Amino acid sequence: MSSVMPQPATDAILACTVSRDVQNFDLLIEDMESALGESWGDLGFAESLAFFGQPEADGMEFIALAMDDADEENMPLMTEIITQAKARGLKVILIAEDVTPSALHSLLRQGADEFVPYPLPEGELAEAIERLRTPPPAPAAAAGGTTLDARAQKDGAVIVVHGLAGGTGATTLAVNLAWELANIETAGGPSVCLIDFDLQYGSVSTFLDLPRREVVYEMLSDTEGMDEEIFGQALLTYEEKLSVLTAPSDMLPLDLITAEDIERVLNMARNQFDYVIVDMPSTLVQWSETVLTAAHIYFATLELDMRSAQNTLRFKRALQSEELPIEKLRYVLNRAPKFTDLNAKSRVKRMAESLAIGIDLQLPDGGKPITQANDHGMPLAASAPKSPLRKEIVKLAASIHSLRDADAAAA
Ligand SMILES: Nc1ncnc2c1ncn2[C@@H]1O[C@H](COP(=O)(O)OP(=O)(O)OP(=O)(O)O)[C@@H](O)[C@H]1O
Ligand SMILES: [Mg+2]
Repeated sequence: MSSVMPQPATDAILACTVSRDVQNFDLLIEDMESALGESWGDLGFAESLAFFGQPEADGMEFIALAMDDADEENMPLMTEIITQAKARGLKVILIAEDVTPSALHSLLRQGADEFVPYPLPEGELAEAIERLRTPPPAPAAAAGGTTLDARAQKDGAVIVVHGLAGGTGATTLAVNLAWELANIETAGGPSVCLIDFDLQYGSVSTFLDLPRREVVYEMLSDTEGMDEEIFGQALLTYEEKLSVLTAPSDMLPLDLITAEDIERVLNMARNQFDYVIVDMPSTLVQWSETVLTAAHIYFATLELDMRSAQNTLRFKRALQSEELPIEKLRYVLNRAPKFTDLNAKSRVKRMAESLAIGIDLQLPDGGKPITQANDHGMPLAASAPKSPLRKEIVKLAASIHSLRDADAAAA
């Protein structure tokens, strides 16, 4: 390791640790040494911001931003470091000790590329570096465009997923439910369209490794002029089985989109597909009501913590005061405690009672493979087929599909 500021005179600096005091992370020092020899330096937080602009920083590949619970009070600075590093084309590995999931989530959202918990598990840093260096595979269907039949009248079922607090797994559920429904039958299965209405921060594209494109913005900004052809052009196909409307490439101001726009898009999708799965933004928007009204099932994801509890209460009150159809809501507890954890089980029960909600579905914590699947742009079926989380989502898909089959038979 070079002392204090990196010393470019000897070896070119390939990476830097950025931390309050790197001595608090001695395992990181060891792992950096074994991965990079002498070609790395260590920087303090403020120092790093000054350093990114220096010519010495040009040849650098990544920073390892190491933080613990004390640094969590300094989130704006952590965020700034990530933003500045990314702006200079540097990758960011986040090394975190005792940092809350919501802080972690927000930093990953700011663009941190990899996350490794501290104390570092054996070989994890080397693997993270390896992943940074491997270019992502080419998007499965960059070309885009789906040919649709203007006469289609499928009357698809609208299934919505809405995270009541950020990071509670809404997108993970939406993407994987869509994929399991698309694969529910070996041949001639239902057609499925997955729509990312989290128009600004939507991560469906990331989770399926699809590009965000301008045509989506164009389509959404003129839904009156939209027809089957324009809608079809805005869709991408994932692995030839799932049609996806990603969020647009540019951030779309949420108030630019009206309830009518949303209604047109949903109607179009319902005519063309058997299932329309919608990923909603966490915030309530002008057109939340439109989506709730169109929905057949509206999943609301939460976790067993205060933040989720408070948001759930607000969400429920907001819908009730507008007399919206709350009977469509299905509360989903993500990262639910294990069956054997009786103590946590009783916390779940108390939470449900105090919020006066029924928890309709509990999804287990799938651990790191879930985030890895999402980061690598693959459904769980492909990258973690045996995960307990995937198993629950498969069951859910099967029960939804059996309902629809029964409806079709009755009609
Ligand atoms: N049951 C689970 N087990 C393990 N990891 C999970 C689980 N559910 C979600 N995750 C991970 O948690 C993170 C947040 O999940 P996700 O993006 O699906 O949440 P979200 O509610 O859509 O968040 P946002 O507010 O950003 O839209 C992701 O890294 C995901 O891989
Ligand atoms: Mg999401």
